[in-house]
Amino acid sequence: MEIHTNIPLKNYTTMRLGGPARFMVDVHTSDELKAVVANARSKNIPLFVLGGGSNVIARDEGYNGLIIRMRIPGFEVVSDDASSTTLKIGGGEDWDATVKRTVDLRLSGIEAMSAIPGTVGASPVQNIGAYGQEIADTLQSLEALDVTTGQIVTLSNQDCGFSYRHSIFRGDAKGRYIIINITLKLWKSLPQPPFYDSLQSYFDTHNISIFTHQIVRDSVIAIRAEKLPDPRDVANTGSFFKNAIVDNWRLDELRQQHPDIKTYDMGDGTFKVPSGWLIEKVGAKGRLYHGMRVYDKNALVLINESATGYADLAAARDEIVGKVRDTFRILIEQEPLEIE
Ligand code: EPU
Repeated sequence: MEIHTNIPLKNYTTMRLGGPARFMVDVHTSDELKAVVANARSKNIPLFVLGGGSNVIARDEGYNGLIIRMRIPGFEVVSDDASSTTLKIGGGEDWDATVKRTVDLRLSGIEAMSAIPGTVGASPVQNIGAYGQEIADTLQSLEALDVTTGQIVTLSNQDCGFSYRHSIFRGDAKGRYIIINITLKLWKSLPQPPFYDSLQSYFDTHNISIFTHQIVRDSVIAIRAEKLPDPRDVANTGSFFKNAIVDNWRLDELRQQHPDIKTYDMGDGTFKVPSGWLIEKVGAKGRLYHGMRVYDKNALVLINESATGYADLAAARDEIVGKVRDTFRILIEQEPLEIE
């Protein structure tokens, strides 16, 4: 294992911002991971794990610690019955390549999460989701290194504390676990309707009435290509804001003031209000703030066009959050984690 020093984080994050990491190392096995973590902890060096860098923001001061790039491979069947197949997948695998492999095996459960950038190990952290599926629906368990004890532990789905775009890994247990592999239970059946609204309308306009795994995957890839800029071409981190969650009484109030408000019933007494709609309503869509562009095809996305550093991003974010707060009295939150 080679430890590199003074590595510019802007080259390793898709928003293409951020100063140098003091140390950086790639790990390919759980033994390498254990050794690297034990060594860093003995020297009191802080750690941050990076997957594809597609959902994190680095700051100008960089990171005064060790960045571990998760590269642990693996894709194996752990059990199989008449209706399902359970797979264990290494944290360093590319997420979309993994989705493709499950679709090729005609398994259902993650096909609607096609074309999400990033790695498998990052997928539980913000409970990735798209077009009606989220990783919490199929994840059985995962193995992680507990950096506080140096032991590898198995966490069940429940242990992960999943909710909308959230888990213990970015909440109470932030920094404690490094995800080594995940175990997913996928179904042998075809994808089943009802489908997520925007997916169904894509099927309708393209006269699609047979729903195979491959057709769902291809349709999602086509929809995403329309609404989300490819991070390889344009600096961005996908949805930059989480959708807002409000409760019943607040929604009534909002509906009175804004009868055209869009909402999605979460089924637990709370409602998701699309932040893209809120940002569009305050007139920010397509506009440039401090070198950051609110994407003209999807107001939830911020593009780094010409930001000179993290301060520009923060100023743009705060201006947009402030506009939404002043008009709707809703505080929208940043989705990508910050390297700190
Ligand atoms: N909308 C607007 N204006 C906009 C954008 C959206 O009015 O500029 C409205 C849409 O018309 C729609 C509603 O907002 O009625 C919701 O939009 P959509 O269903 O397309 O998805 P989203 O809420 O914008 C979320 C995820 C995406 C995921 C899509 C599809 C979050 C933060 N984002 O976006 O995830 O692909 O649903 O399921 O939950 C990501 O996390 O990086 C990401 C791309």
